[in-house]
Amino acid sequence: MKKLFVKKTLRDLAEESNHHHFKRVLGPVSLTALGIGAVIGAGIFVLTGLAAKEFAGPGLILSFVLSGLACIFVALCYAEFASMVPMAGSAYTYAYAGLGEIFAWIIGWDLILEYSLASSLVAVGWSHYFINLLGIFGIHIPPWLTSDYWTLSHQSPELFARIVPHLYGAPIVFNLPAALVIVAITALLVIGIKESAHFNNIIVGIKLVVILLVIIAGWFYVKKENWGNSWQTFAPFGAAGIGTGAAYVFFAYIGFDAVSTTAQEARKPQRDVPIGIIVSLVLCTILYIAVTAVLTGMVYYKNINIDAPLADAFSRYGLVKISFFISVGAVAGLTSVLLVLLMSQARIFWAMARDGLLSERVFAAVHPRFGTPYISTIIVGACVAITASCFPIEEIAKLVNIGTLLAFCLVAAAVIILRIKDPHHPRAFKCPFVPVIPILGIVSCGYMMIRLEFSTWLRLIVWLAVGSIIYFSYSRRHSKLAKKHALIEKQNE
Ligand code: ALA
Repeated sequence: MKKLFVKKTLRDLAEESNHHHFKRVLGPVSLTALGIGAVIGAGIFVLTGLAAKEFAGPGLILSFVLSGLACIFVALCYAEFASMVPMAGSAYTYAYAGLGEIFAWIIGWDLILEYSLASSLVAVGWSHYFINLLGIFGIHIPPWLTSDYWTLSHQSPELFARIVPHLYGAPIVFNLPAALVIVAITALLVIGIKESAHFNNIIVGIKLVVILLVIIAGWFYVKKENWGNSWQTFAPFGAAGIGTGAAYVFFAYIGFDAVSTTAQEARKPQRDVPIGIIVSLVLCTILYIAVTAVLTGMVYYKNINIDAPLADAFSRYGLVKISFFISVGAVAGLTSVLLVLLMSQARIFWAMARDGLLSERVFAAVHPRFGTPYISTIIVGACVAITASCFPIEEIAKLVNIGTLLAFCLVAAAVIILRIKDPHHPRAFKCPFVPVIPILGIVSCGYMMIRLEFSTWLRLIVWLAVGSIIYFSYSRRHSKLAKKHALIEKQNE
């Protein structure tokens, strides 16, 4: 039992961080850009459409406020941890120090949902805008190569019956562009063309320009009646719908924590990582609220397109050029989200493998020539490509969100626990009003989890059950920290 809750001390972490020499090149601007690079993506470019149409109507504006607030509470907790434990591994490493090994494992396992599964969703979103872009040039790919079985058979049963080819009786439907973009990015990550901070800054610049274009140009086409003139018309699904919308668009905020996975590459991690996390999050929250206001003001919520809502809103007004720019920006922007998410996943696997919780031979193996964690990158890439090409976007989003919300709750709890257990460890950044802010983080994230359906909970439970089987059959026996503690105890006897 004791083994399950074995914790890393803050001194263990400080020693580990001295062993691994990453180049410290990132300053506050690059870190903020990294945050924005990972955050603005499929959430705002794609999911807003479905969320407004099916869950919240124009009230989605409030959903973004609610979800953004929850993330800001948790971001303050992340920032405190990042300033105390400036190491790769993010929430996984924090939980190892704050809560013990079993919780670290749960978070690490959970973060697979956040990073890998989220990449699948972003790839599907990428494919929607890519197809939109091809359409502008008159190129059309058959729908059975750009969708998944459930979506196509449900949305257009007639089309499905008419066009889908069969192989030995089985219908062939998959999202080819989504799979291809993952294969391309995986190849880039394996050969080590790392997303340089400079390249990231350019993409972030393009993304921000496109988002500002949507807000400013779209503002002239807002029709106030689309927002509704009473609470009932503004929030047609009621307050509960706003909560469900928040739980759904929470995806749009995922990624700010990726900044904390790069703590070892920051010049002044204690100061700059908290700045990167908080500034990028606050900025994105403001932009999201504005974009949603414009989108729901331009198009009546029931008519919003769910594949490429922002580009479509402008096409409706005949603004084809703007629609084209939005699609280009989305394709570029979503590519950078994919790079950050897939790279972060490799770092988390690396951290877990170095602790012995995953096979070091597989997940910490570095390519002799390229110097990259190639095996884990390829395994992740293959799984992500398969999920992206075969599963519907809404189901992926819900599972990603519930997993990430759980990880956020655990991080907030770990801040409170470490304040009690290790009150004197230097904290360059202190989350204000502890325990109030972490508790608000737990309550707001918990509320959004409750707004997700039972089937999503069930999937999370199955996912955690699979993780427990791996933990008890492999990780616990190979944990380096547990072995070290056992040895010390033996010597003391
Ligand atoms: N927040 C990121 C996105 O919306 C993951 O794509």
